[in-house]
Amino acid sequence: MDAFEYRQGQLFCEDVPVADLAEEFGSPLWVYSAAKLRHEYGAIRDAFSEVDPVICYSVKANGNLSLLKLLNDEGCSFDIVSGGELYRVQQSGSATERVIFAGVGKTDAEIRFALEADILMFNVESEAELDAISAVAGSMSRVAPVALRLNPDIDARTHAKTTTGKKGNKFGMDIERHNELAAKVLGDANLELRGIHMHLGSPILTTDPYEAAAKKALEVVRDLRAKGHQTNWINLGGGFGLSYLGNEAPPYSEYARVILPCIRQAECRLALEPGRSICGNAGILVTRVIFTKREGGKLFVIQDGGMNDLVRPAMYDSFHRIWPVRPAVPPPDDYQQEIPGCEPADVVGPICESGDYLARNRWLPPVERGDLLSTFSAGAYGTVMSSHYNARPLGAEVLVEGDAYRLIRRRETYDDLIATERD
Ligand SMILES: Cc1ncc(COP(=O)(O)O)c(C=O)c1O
Repeated sequence: MDAFEYRQGQLFCEDVPVADLAEEFGSPLWVYSAAKLRHEYGAIRDAFSEVDPVICYSVKANGNLSLLKLLNDEGCSFDIVSGGELYRVQQSGSATERVIFAGVGKTDAEIRFALEADILMFNVESEAELDAISAVAGSMSRVAPVALRLNPDIDARTHAKTTTGKKGNKFGMDIERHNELAAKVLGDANLELRGIHMHLGSPILTTDPYEAAAKKALEVVRDLRAKGHQTNWINLGGGFGLSYLGNEAPPYSEYARVILPCIRQAECRLALEPGRSICGNAGILVTRVIFTKREGGKLFVIQDGGMNDLVRPAMYDSFHRIWPVRPAVPPPDDYQQEIPGCEPADVVGPICESGDYLARNRWLPPVERGDLLSTFSAGAYGTVMSSHYNARPLGAEVLVEGDAYRLIRRRETYDDLIATERD
């Protein structure tokens, strides 16, 4: 399903012209499609339905309260990595009893907060963390449910900065340490080992890393049970592919095909932590061209969305399709080839950094001052990574539903920039 389509020469989100939203709410503007969010959550739930999975949307991908509420209403749960994300889940009115808490650096205060919220389990990343969870749980006369995060040393073939399941990453533990800590849990009355957790990286465009991880999980679960654990959860994390270019990501059914046999054999509950694949293509960033300039043999399109809004191109060399909202040339099937009637340009922001760009050498139709551009696949790891760098207020967010829409985060003002400071 494509929530963003060109009709009658202009871009629509569902049944709303994107240009109308930019007129009303200004730019930079984040626009989300409710139908697309529901569609993606439904697609992953259905692909794995045979084992009644617990789908924990990864709040880090986009934690806007309205998005969390929408997903909670669909029956989705949440994967969090901080007390702040747990607070967001609570404030969205969502249930917390199926929340999973990952991350390498949980503080005692965050552990206590999560135990008070009665979450489903902690994904534990180290012995020190296990000891801290045990101590906090003991002080509250509680038993903390945990899964140990295994680093399976599987190459998910992602960008070096987004691979997490290879030896040498800061995440998880190797199998020897995993077995040691599992034995330690068995002798600790404050802890209960619910399952095994892995997250391999993101975005993963092939299914073989998941197949290897599922097989590993089956082997580990059998071993744990033989040693007396009641382990009955396998959590294979997130990282499912997103089509940034076209249709390069496999459907969820392909991932399910390699994962499900192991879950059935293990007779375990399955948890998944998808973020990007649920919200990535449900959002765009709309920006306005401020100036164009030709310098050094290049065309620069300077627009009001910078690396402070969408840092992914600068941080991960990521590719986002970019096209005008009211284009002189219809959008191409392939954004990476030469496009007739177009010219290569660097699409840059106003930030004082050479690394401040949304795209380089990108074929674009003629654009001029005042034109609107859409940067696609910006729903995941967009707003959540925004900063105030260069004292730029954060943009507004709008959620579209059919021909209706509503503001789900107002544009910040200059006063917001200094609201927490004291002189
Ligand atoms: C532990 C864990 N789970 C889930 C995710 C979500 O990954 P994605 O948004 O690619 O699905 C991440 C991403 O960093 C992660 O670290």
